[in-house]
Parts: sequence; C-alpha cells; structure tokens
Amino acid sequence: MNVRPLQLPEWPALQSVLAQSFNVPENGWDTFRGRLGDENIFVIEQDGQVIGGCGLYRLGQYWQGRSVPLGGIGGVGVAPHMRGKGVARALMAGILQQLALEKVPVAGLFPATQRVYRSVGYEQSGERWCYQAPLSALASFRQEVEILPVDPMDPAIRSRYRPRHGNLDRSPAIWSRLGKPYVGRRYAWLLGEDGYVILGHSPQDTPHWDLEVVDYAAPSLPTARSLLSLLAGHRSLCDHLRWWGAPADPLLALFPEPVWSVTVAQRWMLRIVDVVGAFLGRGWPTGVEEELHLAITDGLLSQNQGNFVLSVGSQGAGVERGGEGRLSLDISALGPLYSGYFSASLLAELGKLRGDPESLALADRLFAAPTPWFREIY
Ligand SMILES: CC(C)(COP(=O)(O)OP(=O)(O)OC[C@H]1O[C@@H](n2cnc3c(N)ncnc32)[C@H](O)[C@@H]1OP(=O)(O)O)[C@@H](O)C(=O)NCCC(=O)NCCS
Repeated sequence: MNVRPLQLPEWPALQSVLAQSFNVPENGWDTFRGRLGDENIFVIEQDGQVIGGCGLYRLGQYWQGRSVPLGGIGGVGVAPHMRGKGVARALMAGILQQLALEKVPVAGLFPATQRVYRSVGYEQSGERWCYQAPLSALASFRQEVEILPVDPMDPAIRSRYRPRHGNLDRSPAIWSRLGKPYVGRRYAWLLGEDGYVILGHSPQDTPHWDLEVVDYAAPSLPTARSLLSLLAGHRSLCDHLRWWGAPADPLLALFPEPVWSVTVAQRWMLRIVDVVGAFLGRGWPTGVEEELHLAITDGLLSQNQGNFVLSVGSQGAGVERGGEGRLSLDISALGPLYSGYFSASLLAELGKLRGDPESLALADRLFAAPTPWFREIY
C-alpha cells in the first residue's frame, strides 16, 4: 500500500470513496478539494487502485499565546470493501511520516472512532461543546452598539478573531468552511468596534427553524449584550439557539437564567510529530527557571524516541537530547500533556506516564493551562 498526494486522474475514485464514507453530497467534495489544494489531498493505493484517502488542513494552533503549525487531518475514508484490513492505519502512518519530513510539529483530528488513531499515537487532547438554549430566554437584551451586515467572508471578520489557548490559527480553508458551508448559506454582521457574528440556519420540517451561531467574537460587554439582542430578534420563528463553545463558555455568563443544555461534547485528538519543534514553538509560563527530564517512546517516528531535557526560563524554551529521563511516557501521552488537557499527575493515574513526585509536580506546573478547545471542525 502506498500513501501519496492525489494525482488528477484519481480524483473520481477518491471522490466516490469519500461520498460513500460521509454524509456530504458528492459535489461537496469538489469544494473540499478546492479549499485544500491537490497537494494536501492524500490517497492510499494498492495495485494502482485508490482504496482510501484524506485531506490535510495546514493550520496553526495557539498554545499559551503562540501559534504552532498543525497538520489537521479531515475526511478520512476507506472504500467499504477494504475496511478492517489496516488501510486507515497505514494511511495515518503515511501522513505522519510525511508531516515529520516537513517538520510540522503537531497533527490533530476529530475521531469518529478512536482505535485507528490511537494505534499511531493520537490521544484525546481537548474538546468543544455544543450548547442549546431557548431564544425566548434572551428577550430582555437591547442593542447597545452599531450592528452592520457584512459578507461572511469579509476580511474585517478575520481581523476581529481573538484566539485563546487551544484555538485554531485559521487558514483560508477554515475561514471558507465558516463562511461558505457545503449546504445552505451564512449571514454575518460586524458588532460595534470589536465583535462579529456569523449565523446559519438549521432547517426543520415546520416553518420554525433553529438558529446556529457558527462563529462570533464579543470581547466587550456592550458588544456581547448587542449580540444576544440580535439573536433574540429571531425568536418569533426560531425556537432554539445553538453554538459550539468552550467548556467554560463566556456567553453563558450573560444568560439571565440557567436554561441551556449541552447537546454534544466532542473530544479532539493530537499527535506530537516533532517533539523538539513542538516544545520550541509553544508559549510557556513566565517567571520560571526549570528543567524537565523526559524519556519518550515512539514506535512510529524514531526522531522522537529517547531522552530529552526541556528547559524553560527567561531566555525562552530550549530542548537538548539526553538527561536523566525522570518522566517516562509514550508519545501518545504527550498530546494531552502538551495541550494542558490532562495534567502529568492525571496521566500518571491513568497509567500513561511514570515519574518521580518532583518531576510530576514540575510537569503539572509547566503545562498548566485553561481547558483547550476550539469552535470549528476540520
Ligand atoms: C473509520 C475507517 C476510516 C476505518 O478504516 P479501516 O481501514 O477499516 O481501519 P483499519 O482497518 O486500519 O483499523 C484500524 C483499527 O481501528 C479499528 N476500527 C476500524 N473501524 C472501526 C470502527 N468503525 N469502529 C471501531 N473500531 C474501528 C480496527 O478494529 C482496528 O483496530 P484493531 O487493530 O485494534 O482491531 C473506515 O471505517 C471508514 O472509512 N469509515 C467511514 C468514514 C469515517 O468514519 N471516517 C473517519 C472519520 S474520523
């Protein structure tokens, strides 16, 4: 089995595999391909036949204030008659080897099933929650700032994006996913001087429909209250509001009553591809001078295998090979540790990491962060 970028004549075969794998109309895959570019569509072939493939989003992700390049895997599909034979695992291993060659430090994905991804070193590393609330609960809010309709792809929206820990450094392909869905359309507004909102419709079989907040920024109180007033204005025909947000979602802090529910809680996975690049690229706590001695095993990417010393101090972070290997872990445990999703102590309790008490406490401090999340899917 070979994993490599798509060649033009192979597209109909891959498109057919993807259409059989996902609930996306067949022409939606042309949009997917156009967004990513052929160089970022990968196929796995056997004896000249395309038996599966996936897309690669070239993104970044913010870790303690710094954007680290991320290979975001999406649209993993295997031909139905070839499933259960190790094709997806071989495809995922091939993509990771490609990312390692390019020194892309981290890979990520949303798993529909975890086994295949775990087998090549991915682990749960963050989440996103889908909230639902009755729009009638927001009736008391009034507009306080100017609200201006704009095209959902307007660059002013991008300039107002305020990423936090774990949020994506969005590529044009991701902005395009937000502004132009595979099905239906979006509507957008600028809110005052600092905010924006992109809305979508979830059609129902009745005249009523649900309102979807696809993306928003409302970093000041008058803007946030005006956003809620704009949303509430839909309440004659929209029963519910839905949006994806953080586990500690700030919009809920403004709700007069606790009337929301969480309808889905999704966990995404990370795989550290290049330990050195990942450590050097991210942000770290300030005011510390510390050295963490790690012993890492990686059965797939040998450059990550061995002992490393991570030093964090006033000059930034440094990584050297060697040291005493006081904290032992498989590469799969490094994803959740790196993102701050699971602390070193918790990973030790889960049997995914071993270390002396001082090294565990130090790792807890160095990687401590708010729960990593992001709103969009890739
Ligand atoms: C999910 C999918 C890509 C797996 O492809 P595959 O080639 O059959 O997977 P592999 O044979 O490489 O399986 C690797 C491991 O994952 C497990 N696995 C595969 N499909 C699974 C499923 N649907 N549910 C649970 N485990 C699954 C296999 O059992 C195997 O684990 P094991 O060796 O411990 O038994 C394929 O079923 C598919 O295309 N599904 C539809 C689209 C989809 O869900 N894509 C994933 C989006 S994230």
